[in-house]
Amino acid sequence: KKGKTPEEVVKKYLQKVRNPPDEDCTICMECLSTPSGYKYPHPMIRPDLVGRLCKCGHVFHLYCLVAMYNNGNKDGSLQCPTCKTIYGVKTGNQPPGKMEYHVIPHSLPGHPDCKTIRIIYSIPPGVQGPEHPNPGKSFTSRGFPRHCYLPDNEKGRQVLKLLLVAWERRLIFAVGTSSTTGESDTIIWNEVHHKTEFGSNLTGHGFPDPKYLDNVLAELAAQGITEESLQER
Ligand code: APR
Ligand code: ZN
Repeated sequence: KKGKTPEEVVKKYLQKVRNPPDEDCTICMECLSTPSGYKYPHPMIRPDLVGRLCKCGHVFHLYCLVAMYNNGNKDGSLQCPTCKTIYGVKTGNQPPGKMEYHVIPHSLPGHPDCKTIRIIYSIPPGVQGPEHPNPGKSFTSRGFPRHCYLPDNEKGRQVLKLLLVAWERRLIFAVGTSSTTGESDTIIWNEVHHKTEFGSNLTGHGFPDPKYLDNVLAELAAQGITEESLQER
């Protein structure tokens, strides 16, 4: 695939707005009818151009969206800063590692009628790439292999399939600062919750939790991963 420039990527998802509304651009906080207030001038883009995102309809300076795109991991996707609608395929910065799973012949609290899927994530420490907060600096890896559990029923197996897509798209973990330990430059869970406790629920990350499967399906959808993502593969 030929690499698109940041401006080309952003323009793909935008419709031109000829008469900008008398509203503020929520990226730079300047009025859309005046030029972008974004600080770092880009020689190729006129700072007064305004566009409407084609699915959600939110309006921004083109310049501000390009600046936002350049601050991210430049994967060809864009997320509306107002409503989080995803354009293209969102990917993350999860470092290389492996995801394995198997069925274990035990039931989870709250799921007495089925066995259990155990997922095992292994990610070694390494050096941060350009997509990470501190490129060139090392990152640590704590608590790996991390074991997670799902009921081995229809909905649990659906969640597993979607988690496999999330893994491929590098969205399960991220490199950042752990809110539990305060450690920076380390591997942390991203926005998709996992159950890491098997027979009890002392941490809040265990079973029973009757809402868990629906919650994780909603979290996956917020990353752009749904039933349809399985057909696209
Ligand atoms: N199990 C599952 N999820 C957790 C856990 C846990 N033990 N602790 C925190 N989370 C969730 C949080 O609710 C939050 O949404 O992970 C998200 C990120 O929290 P951080 O503390 O920044 O993540 P991390 O440092 O990766 O997790 C801390 O999780 O699996 C364990 O061994 C790991 O002890 C470590 C803990
Ligand atoms: Zn703006």
